[in-house]
Amino acid sequence: MSAGTGLSRLEGRDKVTGAALYAYEYPVEDPLYVWPVGATVANGSVVEVDPAAALADPEVVAVLDHTNAPRLGQGGIADQHVLQSPDVAYRGQIVAGVVATTPEAAREGAEQMLVRYVERPAKVVLDPSDPSLEEPTAAFGGHPGSDAKGDVDAALAAADVVVDRVYTTPTEHHNPMETVATIAQWSGDRLLVYDSNQGPWTAAVAFGALWDIPPERVEVVTEHVGGGFGAKVRPTPGAVLATMAARVTGRPCKLMLTRQQMFTMSPGRSATRSRIRLGARHDGTLTAVDHDALQYSSVIHEYVEHTGAATRTMYATDNLRITHRLARLNLPTPRVMRAPGHAPGMFALESAMDELAYALDLDPLALRLANEPAVEPAGGLPFAGRHLVECLTVGAERFGWATRDPTPGMRRHGRWLFGTGLAASTYPALQRAATATARAEPDGGFHVWVGAVDLGTGARTALWQLAVEALDAPPSRVSIHIGHSSHGQAPLAGGSSGTASWGGAVRAACTALRERLAEHGGVVPADGLAVTGSTEPPPPDRSRHSYGAHFCAVRVDADTGQVRVDRLLGVFAHGRPLNARTAHSQLLGGMVMGVSMALHEQTVVDPRLGMFVNHDLAQYHVATNADIRGLEAHSLERADDDVTLAGGKGVGELGIVGAAAAIANAVHHATGVRVRDLPITLERVR
Ligand code: MOS
Repeated sequence: MSAGTGLSRLEGRDKVTGAALYAYEYPVEDPLYVWPVGATVANGSVVEVDPAAALADPEVVAVLDHTNAPRLGQGGIADQHVLQSPDVAYRGQIVAGVVATTPEAAREGAEQMLVRYVERPAKVVLDPSDPSLEEPTAAFGGHPGSDAKGDVDAALAAADVVVDRVYTTPTEHHNPMETVATIAQWSGDRLLVYDSNQGPWTAAVAFGALWDIPPERVEVVTEHVGGGFGAKVRPTPGAVLATMAARVTGRPCKLMLTRQQMFTMSPGRSATRSRIRLGARHDGTLTAVDHDALQYSSVIHEYVEHTGAATRTMYATDNLRITHRLARLNLPTPRVMRAPGHAPGMFALESAMDELAYALDLDPLALRLANEPAVEPAGGLPFAGRHLVECLTVGAERFGWATRDPTPGMRRHGRWLFGTGLAASTYPALQRAATATARAEPDGGFHVWVGAVDLGTGARTALWQLAVEALDAPPSRVSIHIGHSSHGQAPLAGGSSGTASWGGAVRAACTALRERLAEHGGVVPADGLAVTGSTEPPPPDRSRHSYGAHFCAVRVDADTGQVRVDRLLGVFAHGRPLNARTAHSQLLGGMVMGVSMALHEQTVVDPRLGMFVNHDLAQYHVATNADIRGLEAHSLERADDDVTLAGGKGVGELGIVGAAAAIANAVHHATGVRVRDLPITLERVR
């Protein structure tokens, strides 16, 4: 058994038989149920909370609001400071919580709550001419928000051909199958939380900071999680409310958000607006790349969707400028959503590259090959493996790109127009600090503990494979333990960094244990032998990214504008796969989300009420089985040095990046209509 083998998930049987416990399902004694009450104004203050009607129900045990809620410490972020002030920064922000002996009574009580507000004018629309736009301060993956080299304006003025276009993506929401769920229980000043999150250790640190207690006194259990996509990277306001309710009542308190509540009490992705300007010579040489990106955060916390980040790494040019601007709106604080920054940013850049290819009368594949950089365009760092050219050429071969006639709107059979398009993909290969412990037992068994979490990705299985390989032990003697904050410092399942980071620590711990055992002549001491190992972020001496290329075939109904994605083929270079089957599944999942992003997903903001109008799966559309056909993901297995200790680069986000651009480019090829605003709805095509 070695890492890389396409093994089925260790917990697969438990999941499909219902034996796997998710956060809300843990048996606790005498629980209470918490229902959050969301603000009905987008900006203002609570002036009165009247719980009398709710409390009239004997099943309602307590009502929390800003006047009686426990005071939290200064740690954590503003969104987590639930009920600490009467201020309302966005519609749906938690202004009260009802605690009852049944979930039905809690929900009924929440609907009985009378909350009065003073309302202030709210700003909820992303407006590029807003005079109060900010320069964001937060960096992404160690890179600053903005970059510049050369003289972009002079190069654009001197270019033979210029493309200058604006591309937008809407607010989107994650919608994992399992919504946010928490059970909180206090014993004295120790907090136990069963929580659906993307990192039990980081969650324990956050809860500790919020309650002003050392993280060791917080135990977070996250054994199985039904998806996250970024929605669960920090304890949500509802999770914090559950810990408060447990504190006040002295009983275990359970909270699970409804699908509707997920749209305001869990984050989403910021809408984005990218102005891309590309300058080129007639022969296709890029002379200027300018990416000006606008996104929003809430008025209480700065989160930056780094829409321009991917543009740093993509194409050779002497003149490059990337700027990010941030609007502060009365909307819930957005947060990372699958391929934060890169998914919307590469829709813009890869659409613009397609437009440039048409302006130059060049093949879009040839244009990309002509501008392949030797070092990272923004930073000048050498690449720790790139293989983008190979992804493009292998993909073109598999797809049959060579025979393509570039003329748009030419291929009609009956009511259907046919077209093809391509786009590149990239995502950073991050490795964060993590620790793991490996222990040999006298009976010949091995246990490995790491504070990882498996969102459904297959991380548990890949980590177990790494452990078996590094220990060189019989697979049946090796047990992996994940999903608990006490397993030691561990990063989030986020930024496609989880398995690489935890895996590096697992490999380090297991390798060290094997060496220690050899020192003992292979004999395990009577009380066992335990060794810890760790990973650190690599030095910033390489540009570490995965790359890929999408090739897409669509048909578009000439009468209705309906788009069907007949084929989406991706070729990806992500180092060594740690489990070929689950890595493949991750890439396909990303591509499905890319189809969804291209054709369906948009959260609509009512500009008067500051309300997300479509806040359930009946009206917020995601790709379903009927949308998906002809999906193919191929991995180029290229072992890159200097990337991660585990040997692999992340695969969780690579599949979504660029997919929407490939689809939009194919729609243009089919119809001659260039859609620059996602999603590609009927009225935008016709
Ligand atoms: Mo991923 S959006 O970083 O959970």
